[in-house]
Amino acid sequence: MSKVSVIGGAGFVGQIVAFGLTKSEVVDEVVLVDIIEDKPQGIGLDMRESTPIYGSDVNIYGTNDYSQMAGSDIVVVTAGMPRKPGMDRMDLLKVNVNICNAVVSQIKQYAPNAIIIYVANPVDVLTYAAKEISGFPAHKVFGMAGVLDTARYRAFIAMEANVSTKDIRAMVLGGHGDSMVPLPRYTSIGGLPLSHFLSEEKIEAIVKRTRTGGGEIVSLLKTGSAYYAPGMAVAEMVEAIVRDQKRVLPVVAYLDNKYGFSDVYAGAPVILGRNGVEKVLEIDLTEEEMRAYSESISHVKAGVEDVKTLLRE
Ligand code: APR
Repeated sequence: MSKVSVIGGAGFVGQIVAFGLTKSEVVDEVVLVDIIEDKPQGIGLDMRESTPIYGSDVNIYGTNDYSQMAGSDIVVVTAGMPRKPGMDRMDLLKVNVNICNAVVSQIKQYAPNAIIIYVANPVDVLTYAAKEISGFPAHKVFGMAGVLDTARYRAFIAMEANVSTKDIRAMVLGGHGDSMVPLPRYTSIGGLPLSHFLSEEKIEAIVKRTRTGGGEIVSLLKTGSAYYAPGMAVAEMVEAIVRDQKRVLPVVAYLDNKYGFSDVYAGAPVILGRNGVEKVLEIDLTEEEMRAYSESISHVKAGVEDVKTLLRE
């Protein structure tokens, strides 16, 4: 038995998470929780009605009632608000920390043993807030960013090198934003180094495109942000947990004396299994990679200080 609740489930990302899990029968039960009246119920019913077509017995439904997430093994949080005209970074953070507070308090009440996967942005700092508010152990509170960032990076490599996406292995470190650190040195295609396939200039261009990958989609969509790749990234993480796959994936993990950083959440390679983040892996980095990682972490740390201030208010 495995049950996953998606808070913000009537939104774009939440719907893809739910559909990914339902179509591949990764879990037994999926609950879409949202504050919009009737919408999660409608989306849940529509998805339930799609299950006979592809032959899935997942019990998927939507609700406005948080108590329905009782007994969840995993709670995914996509509930958040995007920046609106006139809002500065701090205004936006305030709104999303308030949503985090409301949502995580409900998780604490109804699913105290759940693993929390945070998705809403800014994901690194909101995951920190979720850990503070829930009081859950750090290995059970983490965020989704790196699986998405590596997926983008791998897609760009496949497009440029004209090879199968299936054979590309990659790792991305750091905060989820323009300062993230894709690692070409740890990227391979079918076990061969990336440099065998692409020139330094091409690799540099791909790294740059990966860093701004979220913005590229936003500017094309005009309203809203990406949801297919983010949603499927979360579904992959959920599968790793419920099937105890011990996947080696980049997640927004709590760093406690890792790479010289402490009391901060940021992208790092981990082993993901039934207990959540079972191990944060420390890999060898060159001086330059370490400098880029530190720079990225310093951005997140500034956000964490803002979160601490907001939580004290
Ligand atoms: N409780 C439950 N649901 C909420 C709450 C709340 N307190 N506050 C907001 N929501 C819901 C909204 O009603 C909406 O349905 O969260 C959903 C968010 O969905 P969208 O606005 O469609 O946003 P989406 O594109 O799904 O992105 C969600 O994921 O990738 C990140 O940056 C993205 O932070 C954003 C998040």
